[in-house]
Amino acid sequence: MSDQLSASDLAKFVCARRAADFVEDGMRVGLGTGSTAAWLVRSLGKRVREEGLKIRAVPTSSRTADLARQVGIEVISLDEAGWLDLTIDGADEFDPALNLIKGGGGAHLQEKIVACASDRMVVIADAAKDVATLGAFPLPLEVIPFGGASTRKLVERALADMDVDGRETTLRMAGEQPFITDEGNHVLDLHLKRIGDPRALSLAINQIPGVVENGLFLGICDTVVIGHADGRAELRGGAAGESTVDLSEAQALL
Ligand code: A5P
Repeated sequence: MSDQLSASDLAKFVCARRAADFVEDGMRVGLGTGSTAAWLVRSLGKRVREEGLKIRAVPTSSRTADLARQVGIEVISLDEAGWLDLTIDGADEFDPALNLIKGGGGAHLQEKIVACASDRMVVIADAAKDVATLGAFPLPLEVIPFGGASTRKLVERALADMDVDGRETTLRMAGEQPFITDEGNHVLDLHLKRIGDPRALSLAINQIPGVVENGLFLGICDTVVIGHADGRAELRGGAAGESTVDLSEAQALL
């Protein structure tokens, strides 16, 4: 049955299914956002329904909250959880130091808050997200709508002093209107091509009034699980190694 899924879908399923095994009874778990995280939520829902796994989950977006409830996972707020044992989330890029770009889905603010309130962050990704240097994927910035044009000018001025290869910025759109985040904000995408010093960039950008948070996750991720379409799940970071996931489970999760 798994041959009805694309290679990319299978790779996403594989890393998500492998990471679902990190979740233990009684854990408070942060659930990421995006197409890879959706496979995780479905895999965990299956464990809840079939194995009686008991978890309480904090979603990082309204999309993920809806899916988690649909598949039978108990959803609580981050304040109700207080702290999390583990967060599992996707990423747009990860580098050899496990630094990330996130926010392709516009949820990086909640994702960063949730990941930083967790004992451990595991990232699930296919091999296409594995990069030597961050920056080919546009870096998302969540910005307050008030004074958006002047905030953008200040961001562009800050970029002039940064070690990057591109400086174009675009306001993310949803059709004719600006994309609106779950917090009611806009997203600027920074087309930097190469980020030479992610820490300096993150500090400089986050000092600008009107910028709420950028999509660089530096020193936050502990482990990356890389999924391959042939069933191999490769671990980088704390628990390095490789194992194989049964692909026949994938189709039934949809
Ligand atoms: C959501 O805002 C993002 O941070 C996602 O985690 C990231 O874009 C990865 O999404 P996919 O799993 O859909 O590629």
